[in-house]
Formats: sequence, structure tokens, C-alpha cells
Amino acid sequence: MLPEQSDVLWTFLAITFSVFALYVFANVVNHCREREDVGTTFWGGVFGAFLVVMFIETSTMMGMSQDEQMSFFFGKMVLTVLLLLLTWGVFFKSADIQDQSPPIIRAFFWWTTISVLLAGYTNWLPQQRSDPPPKAAAIVGEITMEEYAEMGRVIIFGAKQVAGQKAIGKGQCPLCHTFEAGNNIGRCPNLFGIGERGATRVKEERYLNEPVKVGEPEPATGVIKGSPQDVQEEYRREGAGGHDSMNSEDYIRESMMCPTCYVVKGFGGAGDLKSPMPIISKPPISLSPIEVNAVIAYLQSAETPGDFSAVTVPLPSADDGSTEEASGGDEEQPLFVTGSESIEEMINKLGCPLCHTIPGVEGAVGELGPPLHEKTNAMNRIKDPRYKGKATNTKEYVKESILDPSIYVVMNEGENELYPDGLMPPNFKNMLSVEALDKIVDFISETEAKG
Ligand code: HEC
Ligand code: HEC
Repeated sequence: MLPEQSDVLWTFLAITFSVFALYVFANVVNHCREREDVGTTFWGGVFGAFLVVMFIETSTMMGMSQDEQMSFFFGKMVLTVLLLLLTWGVFFKSADIQDQSPPIIRAFFWWTTISVLLAGYTNWLPQQRSDPPPKAAAIVGEITMEEYAEMGRVIIFGAKQVAGQKAIGKGQCPLCHTFEAGNNIGRCPNLFGIGERGATRVKEERYLNEPVKVGEPEPATGVIKGSPQDVQEEYRREGAGGHDSMNSEDYIRESMMCPTCYVVKGFGGAGDLKSPMPIISKPPISLSPIEVNAVIAYLQSAETPGDFSAVTVPLPSADDGSTEEASGGDEEQPLFVTGSESIEEMINKLGCPLCHTIPGVEGAVGELGPPLHEKTNAMNRIKDPRYKGKATNTKEYVKESILDPSIYVVMNEGENELYPDGLMPPNFKNMLSVEALDKIVDFISETEAKG
């Protein structure tokens, strides 16, 4: 069925129903006038009300999208018409004039019954099939550590690897981090062994003093460094103390909630004083306390398959709320934007703000890639003798940078070295519709430095 056609179809049916309600009203009033023993005001009122309801429903439906129209039609209008027919039948019965009930009432009743049955049946079928299986979410309170660590794995890597895309979940960690021994992208620390490393990190001289001193608040997040007892309440470890009692759990939690509390040597901007890692408990990633702990459980047990003795986070309890959001959701589907989303939604979904500062997008303060000031920068790139791409104008350059980031690797003027090649994912082309790409390119092409 073509969308336009069915669009017209529902509207047409709604109007037909309204006209029909008008006809019934006129018919009833007529009958009442002919006979004295029937209450004109009462029946006129009843069928007048039907007419009004029908009219309101029809005009409500005009403003709806096609999907809404269909469910509204079957949910509300058909019901109204059936009630109308029933009442009409009662009217004829009570007035003892059922012999006079016009053929149209019988035909109409027949037609409506059949089509409602058919439509109900076809509507019901696919819904039955696509009903999701009961979620593993009801496990709150009776979840095992193995399941909890698995939940952490899913938050990091996604439930399923989708062909052509990096295994990546809602936590987005693999966008930057590697997790296997010896595998280094070079821009972000490998998280292998973090379960043990965390506890020794907090004893380092650098940890005590840079970039913030232990016991002092980190300006960007307000988190008091090295003080688990001062962590925001929902995220706080039960029984947490001060710096002396910090364990690897506390270190990993602090790394996620306050990346700049400690910047791993060689991995930060501004002389390792500022972390380019996003705050995991804040948008766009926004992991809940249960999710943060699940990630920690995974990281603490990743190197000892089947052995969870090194995990220190507690299992979530029923009062912590549901684990549903964390385990369900988008991860099972390939990441894709269609172009019907708002520009901000698309950009956040694709993760651009994790690496780029993008004027006009709230919270887009990433620093692993160049700030997107393409209105001015793009043409300079094209003029660079190193540029070997095909773009001749700003939009073409932006599109090329998204579809094929390695064609030209941008120079980081501040650090006087090239930005890392291969860090920007090369597979955005699989995650965008043509429309979405056009909209993003239009938007990015207009970005410029503020002020
Ligand atoms: C946009 C890139 C990016 C993303 C996404 C990201 N990180 Fe990081 N992360 C970094 C960088 C860069 C550092 C090193 C600088 C620092 O210490 O903050 C780092 C440091 C860390 C550290 C400290 C490592 C050490 O050796 O002490 C931990 C732990 C960590 N990240 C965990 C995570 C987790 C868990 C996630 C996902 C929930 C994540 N990160 C997502 C970039 C990222
Ligand atoms: C994991 C980090 C990362 C993510 C995510 C990322 N980028 Fe990039 N991007 C980079 C890096 C690093 C560079 C510079 C290296 C290069 O040119 O390939 C870059 C370069 C660019 C450039 C060229 C900038 C210039 O001034 O020449 C554009 C445009 C761009 N990215 C757009 C995007 C868009 C749009 C998204 C989201 C759909 C995105 N990037 C997601 C890291 C990232």
C-alpha cells in the first residue's frame, strides 16, 4: 500500500462514517416525528451526541500521521460506529419498528463487522510474532555476578557485533580504548589490566598532585579527587572512605566520572593536564550508577574468565531500579540514522561530540579530533599541498572527511603533529542514509569558531 493512498483512505472512511452518523440522526428524528409514542428529545439527543463525537473524531484524525490515523480509526472510530449501530438497533427495537429498519443498516452492519474482523485479525498477527521475548531484565535482585559482568560487557561492546561496524555499545568505550593485551590505538590507554593497575595508580606521585591535588575539587566536574566518600551519592560505594582506602573500583569509577582528575601520561591535552575522555555519567553517554558498576565488574573480571573473585562492586538490588535500560535497547540493532532525527540527535547518536568540539551542539567539547570550524577550515585544507582528495568546495570536503577520513589527515597546530590517522571511524558511511549525510554535511559546513 502506498502511504499517500492509505492516508487518503483513512480520512475518506472517517468522513464516510461522519456522513453516516448524520444520516442516522436524520433517520431517527424522522421516525420520531412520524410516531407519537417515541421520545424525540431523548433519541434525538442520543444520536445527536453520536454525530458530535463522530465529527470531533474525524477532525482529530485529519491532523494525525498515517500510523496514528490507522490505530485511531480502528481503536476509536470503529468502536463509535459499532455503538451507534447497536443503539440504532435498540431504537428500532424499542420503537417496535424493526421491520422498517432500512436495508442500509443491515448492509452497513455486515460490512463493518467483516472489515473490523479482517483488520483486527491482520493487525493482530504481526504483533503476535514480533512480541519481544521476556527480557532478562526481571533479574533485578537475583542476578549473579557473571550476569552483571556480562551486562557490563554489553554496555561496552554491544550485544552483538554488527557486520562492518566495530563492536561498540552504549558506553562507547571501544571508540577510543582497546581491551586486549598489546593492542594499542595509541591515542587512549589500553584498558587491559586496569583492574589491578587502578589500585597502584592512586599511589603514584603524579596521582597525588596532578592535575588536581587529592582532596581538591576538579573544576570541570566538581568531583573531589581521591575521595570516594565524597562521590555523588547514587554512585558512591557503600562504606567508601578517603584516599588511603581507595581500591581499583574507586579508581575506575573516578576515571569515568571525572576523567581529568588524573590524566594518564601522554594521553591528555595541554601537557597532560586535561583528559579528552567524555564524562561517562553525563550526557551524551550518561551511564546510570548500575551501569557504571556493571562496567567496573566487567573490567575487574575481564582477564580471569569465569572467576569473579576480583570484583568488588556489589550486585544491584531491587531498590536500585531496573537493569532493563542497560541490557535492552539499541545495542542489538546496527547504529543508523535516517535523517528524520534532529541534527543534534544524529550527531550525538553517531558519537561525533566524543572527539570533536562542534559549535552549536551542546556538550560537544571532544578534543581527540580537530574542532569543527569547517566554514573557515575546509577551504584551507583543500589548498594544503598535502591534500590529495577530490573535494573542491567546503561541502565536498566535509562529506569526504566523513565518508573517508584517511584521505587527508589534519594537522594539530597546537601540538605540532598530525592528528592520529585511523582514530575517526571509517565506517560512518554504513550508519547514515543519504538524507542524514546531506543534513550533517550542511550543518558541519556552516560551523565556525565562536566570537
Ligand atoms: C572519546 C574517547 C574515549 C571514550 C569514549 C572513553 N575513553 Fe576512557 N580514556 C580516554 C583517554 C584519552 C584516556 C586517557 C586520559 C585520562 O587518563 O583521562 C582515558 C582513560 C581512561 C581510564 C584510565 C586508564 C588508566 O590506564 O588509568 C579508564 C579506566 C577509562 N578511560 C575507562 C573508560 C570506559 C570504561 C569507557 C566507556 C564507558 C571510556 N573510558 C570511554 C578516552 C576515552
Ligand atoms: C573517535 C574519534 C572521532 C569520532 C567519533 C569522529 N571523528 Fe571526525 N575526526 C577525528 C580525528 C582524529 C580527525 C583528524 C584526523 C583526520 O583528518 O582523519 C577527524 C577529522 C574530521 C573532519 C575534518 C576536520 C577538518 O577540520 O579538516 C571532519 C569534518 C570530521 N572529522 C567530522 C566528523 C563527524 C561529522 C563525525 C560524526 C559523524 C566524526 N567526525 C566523528 C576523530 C573522530
